[in-house]
Amino acid sequence: MTEKASILLLNGPNLNTLGRREPAIYGSASLADIEAAATRRAGALGATLTAMQSNAEHELVERIQAAADDGTDALIVNAGAFTHTSIAIRDALTYTALPFWDVHISNVFARESFREFSYLSDIAVGVIVGCGPVGYELALEAAIAHLRPHA
Ligand code: DQA
Repeated sequence: MTEKASILLLNGPNLNTLGRREPAIYGSASLADIEAAATRRAGALGATLTAMQSNAEHELVERIQAAADDGTDALIVNAGAFTHTSIAIRDALTYTALPFWDVHISNVFARESFREFSYLSDIAVGVIVGCGPVGYELALEAAIAHLRPHA
């Protein structure tokens, strides 16, 4: 790892609509709000954060593949509905061999049963579910603690 931990924050389909999408479930923060808060928190913790959102599975796969070679130390991933469907995203994350944290804003275990299955949770270092947008910052703290266990 370089001096500063480099974290990649990835959001999948429909998360670009946060703030307007089912606010009773996902809250009122926009994705821009969430990315700005995470960027501030990363800076305060001495890390750098790069954020990317896509509605397209192949773009997420390509960004994850690139993370294997671009100096990324860890990923925070909310793959949205692809969490429950995408072997391709699982395979890309396995390929990078980078530690990642699987984040869900809502409590997926308190919703429809199809949201309980995840292709990502068992290969994640940690899973943060149902904590709202602050879950991204909790994942960031966990990732940085993992990368710097003695700091
Ligand atoms: C989500 C939960 C998924 O089931 C859903 O498809 C999403 C958002 C969450 O953050 O709670 O798009 O990942």
